[in-house]
Amino acid sequence: MASAYGARVLWIAVLAGLVFLGLQLIRPTLTNPPVTAELQAPPEVRAVLRQSCYSCHSNETKLPWFDQVVPAYWIVTKDVKEARAHLNFSEIGKLPAPQQKAALYEAVNMIQLGAMPLPSYLRVHPGAAVSAENLKVLRDYLNPPAPAGAAAAADTSAADAQYKGWIAASNQTLTVKASPNGIEFLPDYKNWKTISSTDRYDNHTMREILGNDVAVKAIAENHINPWPDGTAFAKVAWAQQPDGKGVSQTGAFIQVEFMIRDSKKYASTKGWGWARWRGTDLKPYGKDADFSKECVGCHEPVRQNDYVYTMPLGGQQ
Ligand code: HEC
Ligand code: HEC
Repeated sequence: MASAYGARVLWIAVLAGLVFLGLQLIRPTLTNPPVTAELQAPPEVRAVLRQSCYSCHSNETKLPWFDQVVPAYWIVTKDVKEARAHLNFSEIGKLPAPQQKAALYEAVNMIQLGAMPLPSYLRVHPGAAVSAENLKVLRDYLNPPAPAGAAAAADTSAADAQYKGWIAASNQTLTVKASPNGIEFLPDYKNWKTISSTDRYDNHTMREILGNDVAVKAIAENHINPWPDGTAFAKVAWAQQPDGKGVSQTGAFIQVEFMIRDSKKYASTKGWGWARWRGTDLKPYGKDADFSKECVGCHEPVRQNDYVYTMPLGGQQ
């Protein structure tokens, strides 16, 4: 009696074992295609992503043994395939630099929201968590802290002097045409406050982001999501001219673009008026008013930030 019972348990165990082994044979293929164009970013930025994100969002997936066992293998394979389809750090390097940056802004948002790495994955792979220091590495790359120290200050004032010279030379005699969506040029932006500026890694361009008084007040009072009506930002870009001593100087003016907040007037373009003027003759950008879609589309990854990329110091965590 007892032995018949024991034999039955044994059989069930053997069968379960066979089923388990059999299931191991059902393996969707997961390959590592070649790395064609890795994200262009400084090594410390890539190191952070490598530690926390590359196992899913790259062509360099390395599975520990416990992920090789079905059913864990099925879950991980599905996650990796989906993750690569959304964002692949091994192929994103072929996109223009601003788009790579846009992807990183979205990545930082996902990390800050606790959405990435996938929480279910983190429970089993705690080493993939993004530490506060690592998050800072990513944030500092996207929005470098204001330059400090005498050398940096000297660079900045040299750039400022050139910039003021350019404004003085170009703006006086120009009559600037309105943008195709009706927005008028705002020459006053040169008196706005610098919120962020960088000459780093940016496709050989330098850029400066300025905010008007409403923006500066909103930052001081931490009312930046949504930004109040009347907020305006300018982003100015120049070509970068290294002077041979490793110091970059501002070269030719490329463009200035604006975001102007008015939740009613610009409701159809996410509450912001968008406009861009290019070249030293300040030619309005866009064939017709539809060009705003291009702007909105690329700012979409930061919709949770009211479509603004720049994370002012003091704002947000
Ligand atoms: C376990 C695998 C896994 C890891 C690790 C992981 N992700 Fe993801 N990620 C996914 C999957 C699956 C999706 C798509 C489905 C979804 O949005 O939930 C996704 C989507 C995303 C998206 C949205 C992309 C889009 O276009 O919608 C971003 C951004 C992102 N991940 C960033 C990151 C970052 C940054 C890290 C590292 C800090 C990371 N992920 C780590 C699996 C992963
Ligand atoms: C290819 C993606 C892309 C497109 C297209 C784009 N932007 Fe941006 N924009 C960015 C990124 C990324 C930043 C963050 C600053 C940086 O890294 O240069 C930014 C920043 C800005 C800023 C400074 C405020 C902020 O969000 O940080 C303004 C103003 C701006 N863009 C206006 C425009 C206008 C106007 C257009 C359309 C004519 C436009 N942008 C199209 C990617 C884009």
